Amino acid sequence: MFQVLSFAYFIFVTTCTVIKREPKSFKLDFKIGSSNLKRNYISYDLQNTQTQYLIELTVGANLQKFRVALDTGSSELWIPTPNAICPNNRCKSRDTFDPSTSTSFTNLNLPIKDYYVDNTYAIGTYGLDDVYLSNGVKLSQFQFGSIFNTTEDTVGYLGIDYPIYETQNITDKIAYSLYLNSEYAESSILFNAIDKAKYQGELVLLDVDTDDVSVNTTDILIDGVSIGFQDNLILDSGSTDIFLQPQYVNQIWQVMGVNNKYIDCNQPSNKFLTLKFNDIDINIPFSSLVRQSDKAGICWVGISPTISGSKNYAGDFFLRAVYAAYNLETRKIGIAPALYTDAENIVDFWF
Ligand SMILES: *[C@@H]1O[C@H](CO)[C@@H](O)[C@H](O)[C@H]1NC(C)=O
Ligand SMILES: *[C@@H]1O[C@H](CO)[C@@H](O)[C@H](O)[C@H]1NC(C)=O
Ligand SMILES: *[C@@H]1O[C@H](CO)[C@@H](O)[C@H](O)[C@H]1NC(C)=O
Repeated sequence: MFQVLSFAYFIFVTTCTVIKREPKSFKLDFKIGSSNLKRNYISYDLQNTQTQYLIELTVGANLQKFRVALDTGSSELWIPTPNAICPNNRCKSRDTFDPSTSTSFTNLNLPIKDYYVDNTYAIGTYGLDDVYLSNGVKLSQFQFGSIFNTTEDTVGYLGIDYPIYETQNITDKIAYSLYLNSEYAESSILFNAIDKAKYQGELVLLDVDTDDVSVNTTDILIDGVSIGFQDNLILDSGSTDIFLQPQYVNQIWQVMGVNNKYIDCNQPSNKFLTLKFNDIDINIPFSSLVRQSDKAGICWVGISPTISGSKNYAGDFFLRAVYAAYNLETRKIGIAPALYTDAENIVDFWF
């Protein structure tokens, strides 16, 4: 999810009721969904159907169930309300939360006004209510935003940067491992543990920035040729594409034969986009950088230019290629090429 420009009101709730002792580590599985997110895009004449990694939440005394997208790039939960104003009324799907019908809901009367770098926004109020994760873990009187006016036409977001951990002792360490895949059912997030069966070789440790979940690349290569990119990259499961500044995207698009985001659906699996980090290269085959549109034979590339002034984001097209273990306390991320398997070998964080 994209960077907030002005964050008018932001508080942490510290007066939570004590919750039961939670398991040392636990896993949440994803469902795959798609939405019509337009944010972050320089606008194209096409529908940007994005893949989202959805988890189910249950909220309130009347146990309202809905899906939200898991977002490593932000730190809050927000959910559209049933009467929200949003483009094409798409946010008024079944994935809304109605605070007025939950007797355990407290309105904090604190406005949320998030304006994002790309002129999109989410406006609403903060409130407290009991939130249950799909595995039964309860977040007591958890603070979240009910959104009633937004440019997003999508489900809500669960940001898993800091506050979810700070207000609730859901695990004894602020750490999780992310394993994404659009084609198989086994996408999951594992809190406070690492599944050693899900990657090749050893995890390589990278320093994470103190402000956001970002790492430094040393270069990016397209089909073996450097594009001269040495910059900070936010690892963001709330975005689908890899977003880089336009001058870099132009070089990549030229090599891949992209025309205004359209690309030939038949792409080679022996040519790669290579993201170089200290001590590790992540190779993503061209064939894995293509997104099929609703129309047969029409494809888009999963690499897009940022809006001027925005940071660089590595969304799902990158995250699917890796196993990523985040320790937000030591500010280290371990990454390695993902291995798609049902095997499991769950161990504690060692970094
Ligand atoms: C979380 O754990 C800390 C330290 O053990 C404790 O002081 C705090 O009250 C706990 N918070 C909740 C919400 O249980
Ligand atoms: C929604 O918010 C935008 C941006 O602040 C504002 O211009 C618009 O008037 C709002 N719409 C309604 C119905 O309140
Ligand atoms: C990334 O590089 C910049 C510029 O060299 C540096 O200031 C920053 O601390 C680095 N970030 C990390 C997480 O290493």
